[in-house]
Amino acid sequence: MRDLHLIANWKMQLDPSESVILAKDIARLWSAESAVAPGIRMTVCASSVAVAEVAAALKGTGVAVGAQDCFWEDKGAYTGETSPLTLKTLGCEACIVGHSERRQFLGETDEMISRKTTALLRLGLMPIICVGETYEERQQGRRDAVVISQVRAALSGARPVGTQRIVIAYEPRWVIGTGQAVEPDDAAAMHRLIRETLRENYPSDVVERQFAVVYGGSADSRNLVSFLGHQEIDGLLVGGASLKADEFVRMARLAADLNNA
Ligand code: PGA
Repeated sequence: MRDLHLIANWKMQLDPSESVILAKDIARLWSAESAVAPGIRMTVCASSVAVAEVAAALKGTGVAVGAQDCFWEDKGAYTGETSPLTLKTLGCEACIVGHSERRQFLGETDEMISRKTTALLRLGLMPIICVGETYEERQQGRRDAVVISQVRAALSGARPVGTQRIVIAYEPRWVIGTGQAVEPDDAAAMHRLIRETLRENYPSDVVERQFAVVYGGSADSRNLVSFLGHQEIDGLLVGGASLKADEFVRMARLAADLNNA
């Protein structure tokens, strides 16, 4: 049996009250399944303004709460930024960093992503580090080089201690939100490449125990089995399909069935 992550990324799609309703619906549906679904790790990443209420709504349900971004300092003169320490205090256990939408629209750099990753690890929060190539980079044959360098850069200051976990999410940028995922074989090959890159910097047992590599980009209940059927793929980062409780929990159930088979 594997640990499989199902991570919802609600982006900026919901206000706090809509987020709480969705969180409660997911927790209610999942509570009927979770007892027979060992190894399935559910996390919902809400917008920063909804994190506190979502964390309160999900307390004790077994569904973890994450944020979608944070700053790298806990406190200070950083107008508009969100403290990772505050996120932790509010009940967050994880945080996405380096999502392609932030790289694209907010100019987030590898260096910023590295600092955020280090800050999250310092606080014992699980970083969910997004990497992935653009369509042009893929067309130019630069896919592997881009992803390898993003992984190396994000982890340049990262030393996971104890049982700390880090998730790397391989998200080819050009399929996000399109309804058209990449070929699962293609994704699995990238997952192998990411693991090889991790092994350059960490002992194999640390890579096995403490890192999970998940796929993201138009994942849903129709294509889940074809992705998670690959042993290299430790879960999914889910945008659009996580906005409906029944669809997201259906995905978790299918993952559990795969695990129990
Ligand atoms: P999508 O988004 O599932 O809607 O493609 C995934 C993501 O952006 O993390």
